[in-house]
This record gives sequence, structure tokens and C-alpha cells, in this order.
Amino acid sequence: MISKKMEKALNEQIALEGSACFLYLSMSAWCDQQGMSGCAQFMRHQSAEEQMHMMKIFDYVGEVNGHPITPAIKQPAKDFGTIQKMFEQVYAHEQKVTKSIHKLVSLAKAEDDYTTFEFLQWYVMEQREEEDSMRTILDRIKIIGTGAQSLYFIDKEVEAISAAAEAAEEGE
Ligand code: FEO
Repeated sequence: MISKKMEKALNEQIALEGSACFLYLSMSAWCDQQGMSGCAQFMRHQSAEEQMHMMKIFDYVGEVNGHPITPAIKQPAKDFGTIQKMFEQVYAHEQKVTKSIHKLVSLAKAEDDYTTFEFLQWYVMEQREEEDSMRTILDRIKIIGTGAQSLYFIDKEVEAISAAAEAAEEGE
């Protein structure tokens, strides 16, 4: 059994993961429109990951006798300016999610809720990986540059990063 305060905080996290799922899906569609199929595939995969993150918490709240709430999700933007700006936005969003996970960990500690504390450790690791992969993409974009001809190489790089990440997940 979790406290009402923890239940509310976890439900807020469900909404945050759900909004990332929709945001990344919209980014995937935008990338496709730009002819950047590698980035589109990557963002689609990220969107599916966010849905899994949302559902993991949703199921956990139910398991510990709480009431998981299906969130209302605002329609995300459909235009993201440039590919660099888009990935900067993704990185900022991931940093926001990391802060939010760390707050949940602090709350679990403060409440001596060791079950939730243990459950959240997976998210702490996952956020470290997600931030790292977004930083890698932004670093590559800086190296390749953002001129028209660079877009092709950025797309190929992101496609390779995406394939490596998927292969690593399958090996887990
Ligand atoms: Fe579920 Fe990328 O945070």
C-alpha cells in the first residue's frame, strides 16, 4: 500500500511519461516530413519506450493497491523548427523527467517506502541512459554541422545510434 501523496506523485509521473510518448510520436512524424527517416524511426522508438515507461508505473500503482489514473494529454506541437532544435527539446524534456524521477525517489525515502524506492531504481538508470544518448546525438550534430548537406549525415548517424540502442536492448 502506498500513501496518497505517493499515489498522486506517481500519477503525475504517468502523465509526464504519456506526454513524452505523444511529443516523440509527433516529432517522428515531423522528421518523416523532412525526409529524415533515420530520425523518424529513432523518435518512433523513443515514443514506444515512453509508453512502456508510462505503463510500468501504471501497473505498479495498481499492484500496490493505488488507483492509476489515465492522463489527459495535450496535443503536442507538430513543427519543431530544425533537427538540432528538436533534439535540444528532447534533451531538455529528458532532463525534466530525470528531475521528476529524483523527486519521487526523495519522496519514497522520506516516507520509508522501500518498495517504491526499489521500483524507481530502474527509472534512475534508464534516465541516465536516455540523457546520455541525447547528448551523444547533440554532440554528433555539432561535429557534422547543420548545413543542408549535413542533414543526410545526421540522419545516418541517428539511424546507427538507434540500431545500436535497439540491439543492446534485445541483448538485455
Ligand atoms: Fe520516460 Fe524518456 O523518460
